[in-house]
Amino acid sequence: MTNRVLITGGAGFIGSHTALVLLEQGYELVILDNFDNSNPKALDRVKDLAGSKALELVEGDVRDPTAVNRAFDNCGSVEGVIHFAGLKAVSESVTNPLRYWDVNVNGSRVLAATMEKRNFRTLVFSSTSTVYGEPENFPLHEEMPTVPVHPYAQTKLAVEQMLNALCRSGNWRIACLRYFNPVGAHPSGRIGEDPLGIPNNLFPFITQVAAGSRKKLNVFGSDYPTHDGTGVRDYLHVMDLAEAHSSTLNHLLKQTSPHQLTLNIGTGCGFSVLDVIRGFEEATGLSIPYQLVSRRPGDVPKLEACPQKAKNILGWSATRDLAQMCRDSWAWQRANPTGYRDVL
Ligand code: NAD
Ligand code: UFG
Repeated sequence: MTNRVLITGGAGFIGSHTALVLLEQGYELVILDNFDNSNPKALDRVKDLAGSKALELVEGDVRDPTAVNRAFDNCGSVEGVIHFAGLKAVSESVTNPLRYWDVNVNGSRVLAATMEKRNFRTLVFSSTSTVYGEPENFPLHEEMPTVPVHPYAQTKLAVEQMLNALCRSGNWRIACLRYFNPVGAHPSGRIGEDPLGIPNNLFPFITQVAAGSRKKLNVFGSDYPTHDGTGVRDYLHVMDLAEAHSSTLNHLLKQTSPHQLTLNIGTGCGFSVLDVIRGFEEATGLSIPYQLVSRRPGDVPKLEACPQKAKNILGWSATRDLAQMCRDSWAWQRANPTGYRDVL
């Protein structure tokens, strides 16, 4: 075997940070991406940061068997596959569910079918904490019920189920990682999250307010049953998440028999929207004007992980705190006011 890894969606937010960590560990990478929500410049910067050229790009769609086969042809042989290519906007999944079933589920099916044909059976899959739906008991353990309440989470759970069935059917090694809320950026400020248009997510919105490109933050909901009435999430530094992927891959590669793993990837510490605003202001010395507005449809009051299983099995736990998430998000925004593009 080689030390080559195929990363689908490797030019995206989490994929680019994971690619950097793997290059630094000496892996050779082939990245399959159609740039639906990313920019090839991210990969140039990943190579610069790693001081490595061991990264090859195949531009193509994960739903297209020809493109997936082309990526595997370029690899020759792979040790493992990390599958990030997918869609993640909850509200878009409600208005356009078929797109989510197509990209997230059909894309994963095409990838897995191609892997099976070529006898590559080691896979790490990007799942989400939103598979838990609107839970009432915390922290969330992997064995707790999954009750997804929107098509985005439903498609991720469907892929988990498909992959679990594959594990039962044959000699696969598969990990489904349920990410909580990844934020932050590489501390160099060279790679980060680059949303198109008005950001949906809290951190990119806050950094754009800090930069003056948006007037104020709307805080969605102040009557949730949380410590200050605003929504609570388990925010996780994207570099910790990237390291969780390399730990997972290294763990799978050690397994000598079929292996199936589902893990929460979070810190175990929930912060409300107001906690995040205060944390950002303290970490950067900037002020974030905000107003309390009504709840955003589809939001749940709280999500908070129990990260113990990942610690027990992988020896991984998050090491970066909220202040570092805020500092690194801001460093990325300040250095790249228009992201990877020339204009916003
Ligand atoms: P992202 O949009 O930045 O990255 C996804 C990448 O996949 C992009 O480079 C995009 O161009 C590519 N892609 C999309 N559709 C494709 C297709 N059909 N063929 C090939 N490439 C395609 O998102 P991200 O935040 O890096 O998320 C990565 C994965 O993790 C996604 O599957 C997402 O659903 C999942 N996830 C993200 C979060 C989050 O909050 N960011 C949370 C839980 C799970
Ligand atoms: N929020 C605001 N104002 C904003 C944006 C968000 O108050 O402008 C609040 C939300 O109401 C929520 C919290 O900030 O209480 C976090 O919202 P995000 O949009 O940043 O994150 P979500 O938890 O809604 O969802 C994100 C990703 C999903 C992923 C999920 C769990 O968008 O793809 O985290 O990993 F599945």
